[in-house]
Amino acid sequence: MAHDLLTADAIATGLDLEVTPMTPPGPVTAPGRPDPPRETSPVNFGRVSFAHPAEVEFARLLDFYRVAWHYEPTSFPLGWDGDRVTEMFTPDFYLPEQDLYVELTTMKQSLIQRKHRKLRRIREVYPEINIVLLTRRDYYELLARFGYGAVEITSLPESDIERILYSPAEIAERVAALGAQISADYAGRSILLVGLLKGVTFFLADLARAITRPVAIDYLSVSALQHPGPGVDDESEVRFSRDADIDLSGQHVLLLEDIVNTGLTLDFVITKLWQRQPASLEMCVLFDKRERRLIETPVKYTGFTIPNAYVVGYGLDYQERYRNLPFLCVLKQDVFHREHGARLAEINGAT
Ligand code: IMP
Repeated sequence: MAHDLLTADAIATGLDLEVTPMTPPGPVTAPGRPDPPRETSPVNFGRVSFAHPAEVEFARLLDFYRVAWHYEPTSFPLGWDGDRVTEMFTPDFYLPEQDLYVELTTMKQSLIQRKHRKLRRIREVYPEINIVLLTRRDYYELLARFGYGAVEITSLPESDIERILYSPAEIAERVAALGAQISADYAGRSILLVGLLKGVTFFLADLARAITRPVAIDYLSVSALQHPGPGVDDESEVRFSRDADIDLSGQHVLLLEDIVNTGLTLDFVITKLWQRQPASLEMCVLFDKRERRLIETPVKYTGFTIPNAYVVGYGLDYQERYRNLPFLCVLKQDVFHREHGARLAEINGAT
C-alpha cells in the first residue's frame, strides 16, 4: 500500500512571516468525508491563519527562538478501505530543523485518549517520523513563562502543593555528587562557571561550594518572551538581556542552568557562547524534563530527570514566586486556574 504524504512546499521560517498559509496542495480528507470541524474562529498571525489561540502562542514561542516551522504542512493517511483513504491526521506544526511534528491539544487529560490513539497509529504506520503531543499542562508552562499577570510575592500555602519531588536533603546530596564529579573531571584546570539567571541562583551557590577546583563565576540572562499588551516592548527575538563580564575565550566554561525543558533556551545560549572561543564548553543542568525536549542539547551533567510537570522551588519560579522554597514541588492545577482563569478559559476553550 502506498502511504503517500500530502506535503506543502512552502516553508514558514518564523524569521519571515511572508509565507503563504500552509495548506497542503492536494485533498486532505478522504473522498466523501467533510473537513474536520474547527472549534474556534481562525486567528491571524502574520499571513498564517491559525485555528486556535494556543497555536498562536506556540508559533510566537518558535519565532522568538528563531525556530523554523510549517503550520499543518502534511496530512498523513492513517486508514484505508481498499485504495480509498478513510482516516487522515494533520499534525499542527512541523519543525524542519528538528525534523519533528508537534501536535497541540488543550483538551482535559481525560479527553485526550483519541489524540493519543492517533499518535500511536501514526507512529505505527510511519515509524520514521518524529512526533510529540503538547498537552494542556504544557500550556500552563508556556503561559507561566511568558508572563501576563502582575508579579506578587507571597508565600505558598501547603494546600497549593500537589507533591514534593525532591526534598532539601535530596537536592543537597545530588548537588554534592555533581560537585565531586565535576572536580574530578576538571583535575588540573580551573573552571569558569556561567549561570543562567535567575533560576540558577541557589544551584550555582551550592554547586560552586561543592567544587574543589578554582572557579570564577559569571552570569548571563536571556530575555523572556512577553505576552503582547500595553507597555510591553516589542522584542521579537531572544537575546542576552545581561551578558557575561568575563572574556570567555580560552576558558573552560561550565554553563549552569536550573532546568531544561524544550531545550530552546540552552540551544540559543550554547550557540552564542561557542562563538566566543572558549577552550571548552560543557553544560550542567539540575533538572531535566527530558520528555518535553524539542531541540537536543549536549548536557554533560544532569542532576535529576523529572516528569513533565511545572515545578517550582530551589530557584524556580512561577510568575517570580516560590523561588525561595527549599524543595522542588509541583503546584496544584488550581493555582494556575485561579491566577489566570480568564486567559486560560480563552486558551482552553476548544481544541
Ligand atoms: P526551555 O527553553 O523550554 O528548555 O526552558 C528553559 C527555561 O524555562 C528555564 O530556564 C526556566 O526559566 C523555564 N522553565 C521551564 N520549565 C520550568 C518549570 O517547570 N518551572 C519553572 N521554570 C521553568
